Formats: sequence, C-alpha cells, structure tokens
Amino acid sequence: MNSELRKSAPLLDAYLSYFETQRTAFTIPGHKQKAHRLDQGLGTVVDTDTPLYGGLDEIKLTEGTLKKAEALAASLWGADYARFSTGGSTHANQAIILALGKPGDKIAVTRTAHRSVLSALVLTGLEPIWLTPEIDSATGVPMGIPVSELERVLDQKPIALLLTEPGYLGTISELPALISKAHEHSIPVIIDAAWGAHFGFNDALPKHVLQLGADALITSVHKALPGYSASALLLAQGKLLNLARIEQSFETTHTTSPAGAPLASIDACRALLQTRGEELTGRLLDNVKAFKTSVQSNFDTSIFLNPEQFPTGRFDPVKIVLRANVLGLSGVDVEKRLQKANIRVEMADRDTIVFLATLADNADDFTVLEEALVPILKSLQGPARETQTSLSWSVVPKVGISTREAYFADTEFVLAKDAIGRISADLIAPYPPGVAVVAPGEVLTEQIVNGLAATQQAGVRIAYASDSTLATYRVTK
Ligand SMILES: Cc1ncc(COP(=O)(O)O)c(C=O)c1O
Repeated sequence: MNSELRKSAPLLDAYLSYFETQRTAFTIPGHKQKAHRLDQGLGTVVDTDTPLYGGLDEIKLTEGTLKKAEALAASLWGADYARFSTGGSTHANQAIILALGKPGDKIAVTRTAHRSVLSALVLTGLEPIWLTPEIDSATGVPMGIPVSELERVLDQKPIALLLTEPGYLGTISELPALISKAHEHSIPVIIDAAWGAHFGFNDALPKHVLQLGADALITSVHKALPGYSASALLLAQGKLLNLARIEQSFETTHTTSPAGAPLASIDACRALLQTRGEELTGRLLDNVKAFKTSVQSNFDTSIFLNPEQFPTGRFDPVKIVLRANVLGLSGVDVEKRLQKANIRVEMADRDTIVFLATLADNADDFTVLEEALVPILKSLQGPARETQTSLSWSVVPKVGISTREAYFADTEFVLAKDAIGRISADLIAPYPPGVAVVAPGEVLTEQIVNGLAATQQAGVRIAYASDSTLATYRVTK
C-alpha cells in the first residue's frame, strides 16, 4: 500500500506488511482475518484486525517493533519514557497513578479530573486532596487550578500533583508557576492532557506539558489526533518518577492482547506530527479561525470562547466552544437539530456546545457545519441568558469517607429527597464532560441532588448513577 508515513513509522509499516503477506495462522485472534467466510458483516468488522503478538511482530516480539516506535515517540516529545496504550487515557491514567505511592498516601488532584482518575483512586487507595478550579466570571468557564490552591494543600504533603490540561472547554491552568511550585517541594506533576495531543507542534498552539516541565503527559491519540478509538500515549520523565514502577503498573493494567490497529495509529500520528505537524496544525488553526469569524459575523454578541479572552497560552485556539446562553437558546436543542442534518457535536448542554475539530477536517467540513448551524442558531435565537456556571465546575466536594471505603461499603437505595446528607456510593457525572459532581464517599448535598435533576431535565445525560432516572440514589449504609 502506498503510504508516505510507513517509511518513518515502524508499527504502521508492520501493520500494512501483515496484510500484504499470505499467512496461515493457528493462533489468536480467532477470526484469522477470515470471518467473512462465516458472515460478511462480521468479516467487515474483524478482518482488518491484527494483534501486536503474531501480527505487528512475531509472537515472541523478536523484532522489537513496538519498542522502536515507543522510542521514536519519547524522542519527539522529549520524554525519558513512552508507552502506547490500546485502553485509552483511561488506562494510561490508571497505570501512572498505580505507580505513584501506596494506599493511604495523599495526592493533590484537580476536581475536574476525569472519572478514570477517580477509579484509579479506588484501585490504589490513594486519598485525593481536591483542588478547586478558578471560574472566569465573564463566561462561567473553569480557568484551571490557581497556584494558591496548590499552596493551600502543600502542608498535607501530597505525593504528586495531578491536573487535567487543557480542560474540557479548552482552558489551561497557569502551568509554569504550578509546575515550579510543585517541583520546589519535589512533587511530581502528572498531567492528563487527554485533549491536548496536538499541543507543542505549532508556535500558535500552547506548548505541550513536557515542554513546560511536567513529569508525565497522558493523552488520547483518538481525540485531538486522528488515532484509532481508545489509542493513547503515556510519556514520563525519570527525575521524580520511578519509570520501572510505571512500566510494571502499565503492564499490570493493560490487555495482554493489544490490537495492532490502535498501536499502528499512534505510531502513524507521531510520524505525521513529526513530518507535517506544523503545516497540518497551521491549516487547522486557519480553518477554525475562518469558521468562527464567518459564523460570528451573523451575530452582534460574541458567541464563541476565543483565545483573546484568556491570558496568553491559556486557551486552546483549536477548540470551538459556542456559548448558547448568549444567544438565548438551548445547546441541547441545537444539537438535536444538527443531528437531523447528520452532524454530531462533541458535547452539548443548556449553555454550551463543543465542536471537536482535528487535523482530519478540511475547509469543506467546516462549510457543511456552518451552513447547517447558522440557520439553526438564527431560528432558535432569543433574549440572552445570564452566564451560569455548570454544575460540573461548581461543586466543592464534602468528603465523608474515603473513595475506596465507599466503593466497597454495603449500600442501599433511598429516594432522592432522603439522599440529601447521605454518603454516595456512586460516582455521578453529567457526560460529557464526565467530571464527577459527586464521587463515592462524598456527601450528597441539596446543591448536588437538585442540580443533577435540573441538569437531567435540561437534556444532559447523567452517567454512572446506579439509578439513571435519579429517582433514587445508592448510598452507603
Ligand atoms: C480529561 C480526560 N481524561 C481521560 C479521558 C479518558 O480518555 P479515553 O476515552 O481515551 O479513555 C477523557 C475522556 O473523555 C477525558 O476527557
């Protein structure tokens, strides 16, 4: 197959070579790339699959292809260590958190952390010290964790600082100051950069977090980059982190049968960034800017979040966040209308719509979106609503018992009104963004129970509650 990248991407080359060679396999995977013999549909789904073991490399990994590709990624991002995961940033977060300390140790964690971080706390028995984001008063958007929040908790001796950067709405904490404050106290800084895999490859984009001195970067290659679903990259520095322990934790929690396509896609995305990163991110930046300017020209008030509203380097200029409230309409209604035009958005709640744009989009895709979106916005437009901070960013948790203790506790279901004041056994999060409004072990307050009901009524999916209707809550006995 003709592919420019395969010369510089060993796993991509191995994947393509596998399908160029005739083989008779008496190994897994059971489909043997011959499932079309049994059913065309099943064949379409599985016959382009080949695993790492016995696919991209020999069963005994004699070629070391994965190691070569991971070394190339480590070198591109300037890291001491890189691993490719087929389990998403979910797995990469869990692997690194498992390598940090021992049960009972404390870790300073942003409250906007993804649920994978909270589940890692259950798995590891680490105790979170929650850091609350600063909210921008003009837009209601979380601005990241201020240095004062880290300073507030330093005397509790956290063994690590874990942040989510960029946040779901594209904002970024004041990272250089946070990282240097943590390092003054020899605290390693782990950054879940699930949405920031494109950073650092163009001067007009924020730097990536290793360039800013962080000790670990976790990112989803299937989010901002054109990677296979659930492909992810874990990068780390060995100065404050124990790389041997990370390796052990990574293997402990990863599948023993990694699929080849996600691994090859990580390698190919790395090669793409290395060879054409600046050109492709430049084109994306131009397309996003042109799209926003053109849509904006239909309205008098400013409808998007824009980099100029934030301090330099603290907003992802590729992020398209539409503020539905300033147009007096519901983001959920806009989403429904766009769905009818076969357009999917990344996230929509009452006040916000997020459109994910990546290197794979071209100018025509933005035109399709604009031509569908503008008439919908015009037809639904009404009087502007006040900016309201979403429940996901505004809960300050009240910890009752540890996350792990609550996870394993005996539980019961009680009516929503009786749940107020009780300790939640569930993690409950509007999804997206998947940020916990309440975590296991935390007290269900009136703000949380009423806020979740209102958020659900506004058309947002509430994820992970044992009773998804929210009529009852699962609480510890
Ligand atoms: C901040 C953050 N971290 C981690 C994850 C998990 O990523 P993945 O879906 O690659 O497992 C997500 C998913 O949305 C996320 O938003």
